[in-house]
Amino acid sequence: MTAQIIDGKALSRQLREGFKTRVAALVEQGVTPGLAVILVGDNPASRVYVGNKVKACEECGVRSFHIALPDDTPQAEVLATIARLNADPAVHGILIQLPLPPHIDGRSVLEAISVHKDVDGFHLYNVGGLVVGNTIFPPCTPYGVQLLLDTTGTEVAGKNVVVVGASNIVGKPMALMLLQREATVTICHARTRDLAQHTILADILIVAAGRPGLIVPQMVKHGAIVIDVGINRLPDGKIVGDVDFNGVKEKASWITPVPGGVGPMTVTMLIENTLRSAERALRLRHADDYQEWEAPILKGA
Ligand code: GUN
Repeated sequence: MTAQIIDGKALSRQLREGFKTRVAALVEQGVTPGLAVILVGDNPASRVYVGNKVKACEECGVRSFHIALPDDTPQAEVLATIARLNADPAVHGILIQLPLPPHIDGRSVLEAISVHKDVDGFHLYNVGGLVVGNTIFPPCTPYGVQLLLDTTGTEVAGKNVVVVGASNIVGKPMALMLLQREATVTICHARTRDLAQHTILADILIVAAGRPGLIVPQMVKHGAIVIDVGINRLPDGKIVGDVDFNGVKEKASWITPVPGGVGPMTVTMLIENTLRSAERALRLRHADDYQEWEAPILKGA
């Protein structure tokens, strides 16, 4: 068997085409969707990711606010920046690029973002929403993976899904989203013993471990769907995933390439969440004052 390719680039292009109509409808009602991207420090990989996000905004008609803060910015200043953006009606989404410098407490910063503008879905309110199956903003990478899976026409309910990697950004939310869709989900991580014993049972294998070549054909069931979230740069500059693509594609029924699989979808889903936030802001503006509406949620009232 040679796997069919799940083309993240093509799906991204198609989704972004659809965004144009939504942006036009918003603009017609006097709202230009806006995304603020905060980068603290000069991590080279983060700079590339932020650059891609800002570029995608431009392509889709979303106004971007790129805020670059020096590496030694005090936490209080980062919090003050977020407070200003929370109050700015031109901003519908706020994203703080991770990782943050070690002197900044990431959790405090993520919790400072208004839940109504948390387009990365990392605020505890949105994470908790994921647990009970009703989040405002699903986190972008697992959200993109879910849409890629849907293009295969596979019914997720009842399938064995194995997620390799238990990060807060990908592995854990991914597992929760597929559990919500009634899959039988296993999460494997760095301390899992005999990884292959788990992966071989997967009807759907999702790998987000950040280790090139981790998944070889012997670890994959015949006919499995394999989604590779890894983005690793080899010493020769080549970008590869966590899966031995050439080997595994001979066993899988569907597989994502790297690059051109999950990567483009992450940024596309960020734009999707930003548009949804702008559409929601417009609805809430009509319902009542958007900023005041936030307080009861945060107080748990
Ligand atoms: N760092 C790595 N991935 C992500 C992401 O999806 N969002 C943010 N904010 N930072 C990241």
